[in-house]
Amino acid sequence: MGADHIGLLTRRAMLSASAGAALLGFVRPSLSQASQSHRIAVARGQAPLTGPRRPATDVWAYDGVVPGPTLRVRQGEPVSIVVDNGLEEDTTVHWHGIRLPIGMDGVPGISQAPIRPGEKFVYEFTPPDAGTFWYHPHANTLEQLGRGLAGALIVEERSPVPVDRELVWTIMDWRLRPDGQIARGFGNMMEAAMSGRIGNTVTINGVVPTVEPVRAGERVRIRLINAALARIMALRFEGHHPVVVAIDGQPCDPHVPKHGRLLLGPAMRIDIVLDMQGEPSRRYEVIDDFDEELKYSLVELAYDAAPPMRMHPSEAPLRLPRNPLPTPDLKAAELRELVLQGGMMGMRGMGGMARMGRAAWAINSTSMTGDGHAGMPPLATLELGRSYVLRLRNDTAWWHPMHLHGHSFRVLSRNGAPVPHNQWADTVLVAPKETVDVAFVADNPGDWMLHCHVTDHQTAGLMATLRIEGAGSETR
Ligand code: C2O
Ligand code: CU
Ligand code: CU
Repeated sequence: MGADHIGLLTRRAMLSASAGAALLGFVRPSLSQASQSHRIAVARGQAPLTGPRRPATDVWAYDGVVPGPTLRVRQGEPVSIVVDNGLEEDTTVHWHGIRLPIGMDGVPGISQAPIRPGEKFVYEFTPPDAGTFWYHPHANTLEQLGRGLAGALIVEERSPVPVDRELVWTIMDWRLRPDGQIARGFGNMMEAAMSGRIGNTVTINGVVPTVEPVRAGERVRIRLINAALARIMALRFEGHHPVVVAIDGQPCDPHVPKHGRLLLGPAMRIDIVLDMQGEPSRRYEVIDDFDEELKYSLVELAYDAAPPMRMHPSEAPLRLPRNPLPTPDLKAAELRELVLQGGMMGMRGMGGMARMGRAAWAINSTSMTGDGHAGMPPLATLELGRSYVLRLRNDTAWWHPMHLHGHSFRVLSRNGAPVPHNQWADTVLVAPKETVDVAFVADNPGDWMLHCHVTDHQTAGLMATLRIEGAGSETR
């Protein structure tokens, strides 16, 4: 297909989308800002996390900003991203949630050689799915992510849901000293055996937020990204009824979450559509009460004084177009049980704190630690093209957002109860002692990481690889 032809298609699609939006009374049809080629420099930098009046924080940054630049690309079109490593140590970039070839997955030693200081790597892939994704290092992850290396990756829908405005909230959590600098002590084993390195400062798009200005009556899509090392969030929009339209980039049946709470573990994304039904000039808090005792107000929606731009919420449909995900054949699926073990209060069978060394956690009694080990045998070998049910059984006293690279899976059930609303994910939050069944088609060959995204848990053993290979290929 020639470039002209693509241009024509896109323009036509855009025209009809904006015509539709105009009919439904939306003021600003969203115009694509996508670009298929990007270049990102990784280097030390400074970021005004706590606002212009406090000292800037020394960070590690993509293109000098925290979070890194929001990359917007088009679904189904080739993307190329050059990454220049200006750090004094190796790095890689992992495109979290994108179903791409193994060689582009960014796991050092397993899917690529690390990018050495002063060197570059060109990532090339064609994102099959539209949605909210993100990127981060997979080398010395605890420190590199903890010092600021994370950014949003938006794959635009060909026909998005019509809204007045779209916001991306890349939420990060920092442990800052009183002088505003990042506290040392990454990789503390005691912490790793508990909830991980939870910070004391939460930023949205790189600053401690005060208000998010909104207008009465408008409909806003917010792409929420939890890019924290360890902090699990449960967001409540006081006085509002967010409708969840996508989870981890994958569209679901639009629904209002239970108790209006958006549970967002590290690495998870939720797209919501919010009708601003509040009163002009008023403010409404967005509260994170995941931990009732540590509950805090993340930000306030601040209404301007203008009269509502529409009297009743729009009736425009909220359902996003489905992505081309392969549907697992549940009747033929093979069941694999993965037992999550270890952590403080659960070290029996782990040899106790004294003998655990770098491992505080295990999956089926094996622990892959650090950034992964190239030589370590996979936890399981799956046959290319087959359907699998992974049963994630959490034997620990802690929460784990469990992530699988290279695939999205259907979330089937929790403790045997079916999960409603057609939810797919690449990172699923498993509560203490909970069992979650997910299903997927092993359609992407390679050695894929499966790990907890509480980064301390990952690097302390809650990590493994699944090998997917064709039935005919050689077994090693
Ligand atoms: Cu975002 Cu291996 O993870
Ligand atoms: Cu990932
Ligand atoms: Cu965990």
